[in-house]
Amino acid sequence: MISKLFPRTFDARLTRFLTIPQSFSLTNSGSLSIYRSMSNGVKPFSYPKPSPKIAGQAKDVWSIVNEAAAEAQNSLPFPILNLGQGFFSYNPPDFAIKAAQAALDDVSCNQYSPTRGRISLRKALAAAYEPTYGRKIDWDTEVVVTSGANEGMFSAFTGFLSEGDEVIVFEPFFDQYISNIELPGGKVVYVPLVPPSNDDTRTVSSTEWTVDFDDLESKISPRTKMIVINSPHNPVGKVFSREELERIGKLAVDNNIIVLSDEVYDRLYYSEFTRIATLSPELQKLTLTVGSAGKTFSATGWRVGWLIGDAELIKYVAAAHTRICFCVNSPLQEGTAVALQEAIKPENTFFEDHVESYKRKLKNFNRIWDELGLTYTDPDGGYFVLVNFSKLQIPEDYDFPEEILARGTRDFKMTYWLIREIGLVTIPPTEFYLPEHAHLAEKYLRFAVCKTDDYLEQAVERLRLLKPYIKSD
Ligand SMILES: Cc1ncc(COP(=O)(O)O)c(C=O)c1O
Repeated sequence: MISKLFPRTFDARLTRFLTIPQSFSLTNSGSLSIYRSMSNGVKPFSYPKPSPKIAGQAKDVWSIVNEAAAEAQNSLPFPILNLGQGFFSYNPPDFAIKAAQAALDDVSCNQYSPTRGRISLRKALAAAYEPTYGRKIDWDTEVVVTSGANEGMFSAFTGFLSEGDEVIVFEPFFDQYISNIELPGGKVVYVPLVPPSNDDTRTVSSTEWTVDFDDLESKISPRTKMIVINSPHNPVGKVFSREELERIGKLAVDNNIIVLSDEVYDRLYYSEFTRIATLSPELQKLTLTVGSAGKTFSATGWRVGWLIGDAELIKYVAAAHTRICFCVNSPLQEGTAVALQEAIKPENTFFEDHVESYKRKLKNFNRIWDELGLTYTDPDGGYFVLVNFSKLQIPEDYDFPEEILARGTRDFKMTYWLIREIGLVTIPPTEFYLPEHAHLAEKYLRFAVCKTDDYLEQAVERLRLLKPYIKSD
């Protein structure tokens, strides 16, 4: 189009001296508007540049996988089963739903809440944590309610990091940590969890994923400001042992490092669970403990989370949180407060029942791996199972979209193939690794079992379809 509008020589001049915005194609009517703008002496339009911190980010795994699933659903004769993202296929308990519904009838619950959180919720959190926190918690100064654990952690990083400050993160990591650290100017320093040996041939315990303490110590520098721990761990299901936490804690205390302890799965553990904040008075001062109503009450869409810690630390988390979102939605804070008050009553067995139901879900679901001859990491907490799919054979010449090929790892290909061929969604765990370490995880797939028993049974049926594709020993 542009060559029709301008003589050839002018065309060349135009392209040499003008920065033509990418959004204008030389063959669409945009070229006409450039011409008009120029003749009016008005600068051509181009969209303002986004921050490189945002624009430079690859598309997230959740979007890639959920979009592939939605597209596949159009051609599949059966409904897609989604064991990918960690959302529940069932509702929160009745007492939580009723509490949230009642909150909407309360005038104050439809207005702003105090920026640190509703008093009812902060008091309920203090009461719920005290029995396992080993001390009294001052609900006024030591608790801040956030928009999910995620915004809470972002507020913690924003509250403490200056440009170039370093944060140690264990790999594999929950992917949100990385941008949450980098956006406020922090630098992520990775310490790989050491995977179990020969897990191709045997199912392993999540405790066999270990910390290399020499490596951890060597990564501490004068710029190290924080260390992130996630226990129970996503995606490995590891619950850090007391001994491991003591060693990490000693390094934190010796070097005056803040411990951000992501304990969002703290109501779902199947072996002994220790909170690092409880290990010593020094660690109590240096630890920020993270929780989530989404995980606690199967209500990930409520977006209610919290941080608990020493008043001197919470003060700065709260200050950042005030500037980021001011306060969390009031009705669901109140719903969470009433639900917590209810759940911790001695006669209420919700948390114990929840643990028992997850032990059962995991046992029933994981029998498919034995049937298929695949191995997996048996989790000690949380609701994810990391399965070793190195024996799965998929056609190399399968028609993978560019987006999947671009990732260059086998787990993305297997994920796509499973969606298209058996209508089952999982998560490729290399997303939780640095690109240079992705080879360590490309044989695994992560399955979320936070679904009804019936849903999981259907998933088992689907997975049986894989039998012909599993290489025999
Ligand atoms: C380890 C971990 N931390 C934090 C979160 C985020 O929790 P929330 O939904 O409360 O923001 C998740 C969610 O999957 C998670 O797995």
